[in-house]
Amino acid sequence: VQGTVPLVERIEGILKDNPDALRTPCFVYDAAIAAERFLALRSALETKLFLSVKANPTVDLSLRLLTVATDGWEVASLKELNLVAANKTVPIFANNPAMTTHLMRAAVGAGAQLVLDHPGQIATLLDFAHQRAIKPVMLRVNRASALAKLAGDGRAPRRDHFGMDWPTLIDQATRIMRSGLVTVAGFHIFGGSNSFARQQSALLQIVPQMIRELESAIAHPLSLVNLGGGFPEKSEPSSALFEEYRAALAKLPAHPVYAHESGRAVFGGCGAFLVRVVATKSIDDQQYFVCDGGIGQDFLLGGTENPLAGRRTARIIGRRASDEPPRSRGGIVVGNSCSQDDVLGIVAAGTGDPRPGDLIAFDDCGAYHGTYPNHGFLGLESAGSYVLS
Ligand SMILES: Cc1ncc(COP(=O)(O)O)c(C=O)c1O
Repeated sequence: VQGTVPLVERIEGILKDNPDALRTPCFVYDAAIAAERFLALRSALETKLFLSVKANPTVDLSLRLLTVATDGWEVASLKELNLVAANKTVPIFANNPAMTTHLMRAAVGAGAQLVLDHPGQIATLLDFAHQRAIKPVMLRVNRASALAKLAGDGRAPRRDHFGMDWPTLIDQATRIMRSGLVTVAGFHIFGGSNSFARQQSALLQIVPQMIRELESAIAHPLSLVNLGGGFPEKSEPSSALFEEYRAALAKLPAHPVYAHESGRAVFGGCGAFLVRVVATKSIDDQQYFVCDGGIGQDFLLGGTENPLAGRRTARIIGRRASDEPPRSRGGIVVGNSCSQDDVLGIVAAGTGDPRPGDLIAFDDCGAYHGTYPNHGFLGLESAGSYVLS
């Protein structure tokens, strides 16, 4: 693990030797940064830390991280399962409310543990459980329902469709144990992406009661509790927030193994999105930098997940040689589709405007940015990806 050189500087170093080394639009990922962020988060938590493949399923990146993230990987599809299952040494957890029988059987065949979301999945599993050795299962709790019922929290978070309400989960645990075919390892509760600061402490408060009640229903101690996490992209594992959280974790019952699960906090900072300016233009006083990639390759930069987050500032990383100094009016960076929302960010005034042919980078695009786009719009090609190690 090295990861000490900022990613954009590493990319600039590559372009200095060969300005055409990277074909745009593309993502550039640094496996060392992801590894470093993973290790920092895990040591701040002092629990196991599972990695959510969904945040970045780039094969070459996963291959490099499989030897670092050894506690477990969370997969939500057959493709993600295939990505991780080739390496038999890491524990795998398959988790999706829409898991088909096919995915469930494939996950069992690959030695994964199932995170069961609803009674229908339990029925499916029990139908074929007599044919296979099934690892002890995890049961997924619906967080809003659990908080409202067990913590009496009137400010319970937005409702969602994941997991089971607590009485259903207890019923299903009993049903599984009665089958004599499968046992229950524990439960999984996920407060939602970016929920760490807002909600994770409230979740911890109901965990001891959940452990007690589930253990009494299944008549054996739980072996694993997955506390989710909802760690934001810019998590600061050394902050006081994590210190307080560790103190709260230390008060939980000692016996189950505790785990957290993260995607964006590990991958977010390890990737940059790169586009090349193909034209500049002005309409009235507004300058635009039109690029060879946009919303079709990086949907999230358009503010699609959080319209209030504000525009990202572009970094001009590869300038074509020119005798004239660049103008510095700044302007809006737009993409290559015909959507009026295809806006990637801004070039700040005073930083030197890019010219056609120059390369622009956006930092912190390592998680979800590459996979969120609706591929196929205008038949535009997906972005390429490069993995630095
Ligand atoms: C069950 C579960 N675990 C973990 C994650 C990863 O979330 P994040 O990337 O915000 O850490 C998700 C995201 O959708 C999820 O649904």
